Amino acid sequence: MDVRTKFLEFFASKGHQVYESMPLVPQDPTLLFTNAGMVQFKDIFTGKVARPEFPRATSSQLCIRAGGKHNDLENVGYTARHHTLFEMLGNFSFGDYFKEQAIAYAWEFVTEVLGFDKSVLYVTIHESDDEAFEIWSKHIQQDRIKRMGDKDNFWQMGDTGPCGPCSEIFVDQGAEHFQGEEDYFGGDGDRFLEIWNLVFMQYERHSDGSLTPLPKPSIDTGMGLERVVALLEGKRSNFDSSIFMPLIQKVASICNKPYIYEKGESYRVIADHARSVAFLLAQGVHFDKEGRGYVLRRILRRAVRHGYLLGIKKPFLFEIAKEVCIQMGQVYPYLIEKQDYILQQCKNEEKRFFETLELGMSLFKKELQNCQEIFSGEVAFKLYDTYGFPLDLTLDMLKEHQLSLNLEEFEQCMQHQKTLAKASWKGSGDEIQKGDFGSIASLPQISLSKQNITTHTSKLIALFDENGKAVQTLCGQTGWAMLEENPFYAQGGGAIGDRGWLLKNETVIAEVLDTRTFFQKELCKVNASSSLSLYDSLLAQVDDAFQLEVRKHHSATHLLHFVLREVLGSNVAQAGSLVESNRLRFDFSFPRALNHDEITQIQNKVNAIILSCQESKIKEMPIQQAKEQGAMALFGEKYGNIVRVVSFDNAGCELCGGLHVANTGMIGNFYILKESGVSSGVRRIEAVCGKAGLFFSQDLQETLKELKALLKTQDLFLAISKLQEENKRLKKESKGKIQNDFSVEQIGEVSLIVSQSQGEGKEIVDHLKNQYSQVAILLIIQNGDKISLVSGVKNAPIKAGEWIKEIAQILGGNGGGRDDFATAGGKDASKITQALQRAKEYALNILERK
Ligand code: ALA
Repeated sequence: MDVRTKFLEFFASKGHQVYESMPLVPQDPTLLFTNAGMVQFKDIFTGKVARPEFPRATSSQLCIRAGGKHNDLENVGYTARHHTLFEMLGNFSFGDYFKEQAIAYAWEFVTEVLGFDKSVLYVTIHESDDEAFEIWSKHIQQDRIKRMGDKDNFWQMGDTGPCGPCSEIFVDQGAEHFQGEEDYFGGDGDRFLEIWNLVFMQYERHSDGSLTPLPKPSIDTGMGLERVVALLEGKRSNFDSSIFMPLIQKVASICNKPYIYEKGESYRVIADHARSVAFLLAQGVHFDKEGRGYVLRRILRRAVRHGYLLGIKKPFLFEIAKEVCIQMGQVYPYLIEKQDYILQQCKNEEKRFFETLELGMSLFKKELQNCQEIFSGEVAFKLYDTYGFPLDLTLDMLKEHQLSLNLEEFEQCMQHQKTLAKASWKGSGDEIQKGDFGSIASLPQISLSKQNITTHTSKLIALFDENGKAVQTLCGQTGWAMLEENPFYAQGGGAIGDRGWLLKNETVIAEVLDTRTFFQKELCKVNASSSLSLYDSLLAQVDDAFQLEVRKHHSATHLLHFVLREVLGSNVAQAGSLVESNRLRFDFSFPRALNHDEITQIQNKVNAIILSCQESKIKEMPIQQAKEQGAMALFGEKYGNIVRVVSFDNAGCELCGGLHVANTGMIGNFYILKESGVSSGVRRIEAVCGKAGLFFSQDLQETLKELKALLKTQDLFLAISKLQEENKRLKKESKGKIQNDFSVEQIGEVSLIVSQSQGEGKEIVDHLKNQYSQVAILLIIQNGDKISLVSGVKNAPIKAGEWIKEIAQILGGNGGGRDDFATAGGKDASKITQALQRAKEYALNILERK
């Protein structure tokens, strides 16, 4: 049975709008990863955004619980039911139906569509929820309803956000298979398996811990797809189901050891983690030293360590990730599109960890022998810092030996090394956490279509100082202002926000420095030169010259993206971008540096599109239609069901909410300034166009002009090659001169040169060594107070190092080196003659004796 489709169809038939799985990286700055189906609806529940036309929704949402409030990482592999990545089936009511209907739908789906026998079903409710008890009593015997406390039956998304009491549906898998102490209804064992959580959303929790009621009681439910599939297939562990077994079998074939459930933790960890790695990479998360990228790295390293336990000594996880792409690519086609990139990234990262894994493991084992009960925090830190073992990996390893860690000591070491101490994953929404900004959520603001509006009269409806404190007036200060009808375009999709001015009675009273979106409202950062007051009626004027340059760079970014895929292949995926009025930056996935020809080709192709003057077309359409037209979408961006598509005649189309030029010809020109690496597998192109491009080319022209003036010629190539030749000739001449200056004594076959000299000692010695087939040289070079000695010997029985050492001592210095080349320093210039004499004697002594 295709449970995912059955679920969505069931709720669609009950008037629910079907939503796509939103990205694993949510825009919500309070969350590390999307951890439940309700995340994309959070602002609807709390009333921050208007309820959609259909107050019922359903989705199958990819979730990750490997960090933050809901973190299952350490259980994965050791239980039958925990995963880092899983799919959550959910139905949602935004102030529409509530408990009665939610319970009736769930019961109908579980018993009639999934076909579970009522004799195996049980439910829990919140201990205070008499209403839920009454409703459930209509469907199930009362002795199968259990009341539980907040810990089990009160659900909330994170430390803040919507929450409420909940009711969970359990399936009894039978006493014959489960006889653990915890295998009773309400216990922690696997016998009674929770499959569905119905949350009766009623409150919002705030950062101070307080609860306020939601505008309307709502419903949020979550059913674990993997659990249900396993149950329907008659399996007692999710890992035994058809979702995980192919992955586990692949692990078994790589390590060449059969999978046995009882000893199979490592296989399960790998199978689970390969899924997270594949999806996170596909959705644009990169391995990193902090934040989400570090969670990804931790997951991969945990999997690699378990591979190592199975005896695997080289990258293997990428092969499991490949299975994931093949298996899940049917439902999530981007896994197929990005497969090469995913595997290459995964393999590289594995390789890096394998390089230190063995050393780390031997350090761990050594410390294990010293350790009675508590493992040294210092060693754990060394494992972390030098060998790349994330803390939870070490904890995991200690768990296998029933040992604990001296966490305090670990923390102290960590404190010393402050740099990485704090994961800075919080997004640009940080500022909105401050002050009174939250109050803007409820203010009415009219969103103007900004494609063509650059001046507009509007009322000022909110004003804040720099610290986010609501104020009545700003004067001679910077702060934030919200217009009722705002013509300024806010920062978004990598492009910076609009600038401009606010005027009162035809006089500028504030400069607009930037425009940003907070709580879906647009705010201008202003510098008030004279008094700016709440409820003023103002003329807002967008700096359209500035905006035009931003538009050019934005459109050029789209063209660059299109051309990159054409030249380098469709694996190129956007990994980030920055669009300003005088530059653009585009990051993309690609495994190696671009060569000169590729860069030239890319630049030429973008310019060709510019010169062909293609019109831009901006259309709104359902997301499905946009995808069918091949529109490129970005992960990490939240798209609604209706999307805006920006296209050029034959230069691609993208989902984009930003401002563009009407015709590519307006971009004028395009120059790539730099190509560089950002992190492994991610490249960056920096470029300019429009006015900035013009300045860039004018600059080049000026430089050429000045060079020509400097060299007094029109033909720079000729002049430079003349200079190069002249330089060569002079060098040669000067070397000849050096040679001629030295007196050479011939002792048998060996030429002996002992002399005071000037210039670069090493170069002279090298040069002389080239001139003679058998030679011994010692030069003393005086440069101001500094005396240096250089010695070189070729095919002669003198040891340069010993020779120079003795002579340097006469000069009050020191030195030595190899038999064929040595250097030294000296101090006492009055002894130079004596030193030269001794050097000659020393050499003659050896050479003549021979
Ligand atoms: N949001 C609820 C959960 O994740 C349904 O369990």
